[in-house]
Amino acid sequence: MKTLALFDAKNYDIDSFEKLNNGRYKITYYDTKLTMDSVSLAKDKDAVCCFVNDNINKEVIDKLVEYGIGVLLLRCAGYNNVDIEYAKDKLKILRVPAYSPFAVAEHAFALLLTLERKIHKAYLRTREFNFELSGLTGHCLHNQTVGIIGTGKIGQCFAEICKGFGMKILAYDPFPNFDLGYEYVSLDRLISESKIISLHCPLTEGTYHIINKENIEKMQDRVVIINTSRGGLIDSKALLEGLENGKIRGAGLDVYEEESDLFFEDNSHRVDIDDNIRLLISLPNVVLTAHQGYLTYEALYNIAETTLGNLDAYLKGEELVNEVKA
Ligand code: NAI
Repeated sequence: MKTLALFDAKNYDIDSFEKLNNGRYKITYYDTKLTMDSVSLAKDKDAVCCFVNDNINKEVIDKLVEYGIGVLLLRCAGYNNVDIEYAKDKLKILRVPAYSPFAVAEHAFALLLTLERKIHKAYLRTREFNFELSGLTGHCLHNQTVGIIGTGKIGQCFAEICKGFGMKILAYDPFPNFDLGYEYVSLDRLISESKIISLHCPLTEGTYHIINKENIEKMQDRVVIINTSRGGLIDSKALLEGLENGKIRGAGLDVYEEESDLFFEDNSHRVDIDDNIRLLISLPNVVLTAHQGYLTYEALYNIAETTLGNLDAYLKGEELVNEVKA
């Protein structure tokens, strides 16, 4: 039986993979991320599977190749954590391009609604039988202009939800899809005219810190920023500054640029957590979740099904429809 080392495995991953594997492969689950320190656990395995914050750099790729492993299964859509260029002709990289764009888009909208209606504050108050309403006045989303950066699968789902709320949509994408009927504008116009900005583009060299000090200065006063894509899209220092000086009214974040050392683990005992995230979390107008946008039963099922299907296709020498190419 072929063997698979599955890294960064949490109980919810194990549940879905065990249900769908059905004895097909011998899967060994490792709680640790796949890094240079843990790569030796992949020795003698036929394939490895990892997640968004595992660091697949040149050294890790060389080790996997040395162990005779020919395929790396990403159980996620994004692949900014893999040195794709270096992996070319050495290691096949397969991903799950779409497991539930609805899951992430709905989470982005949940962050927006939470901020705009101050649900996070109300929840804490009512738990203590404090039913006072002062300080909880919100904003209607109806008629607000939302700027959507990236109109791929998740961006489109998010736009459909926004339409349902009667919001005006501005979109920016270097590869616009005019069939969608959105008003595509330049990034500059989107940045300067939107009351709410939601990020749905991948993290690449071109999108790194797309939300930076300069762009924040061009934004509407009291703008709301939602990021469920990748932390590196936002310069978190500039975001913090904008939140502190009131330019930004609220931020809903499911990702953080330094999340790889923090997210998916209980860090409540740590005293060495970086100042930026400490400050962000301490602000009343920031709602932060730890990369859980994808985390629905439906998405976990689809992730396990596609990942195992990717491995089937690789081992049978079939066409690799989900291959990431440099
Ligand atoms: P997709 O590939 O369907 O769409 C991405 C869109 O971004 C494409 O239309 C592309 O043309 C556009 N784009 C590329 N460069 C751009 C730029 N410079 N500016 C604006 N748009 C640009 O990807 P999908 O499935 O919609 O996912 C989007 C992102 O969501 C992923 O890259 C990933 O980072 C993130 N994600 C987050 C999850 C979470 O749990 N929080 C789960 C899954 C994905």
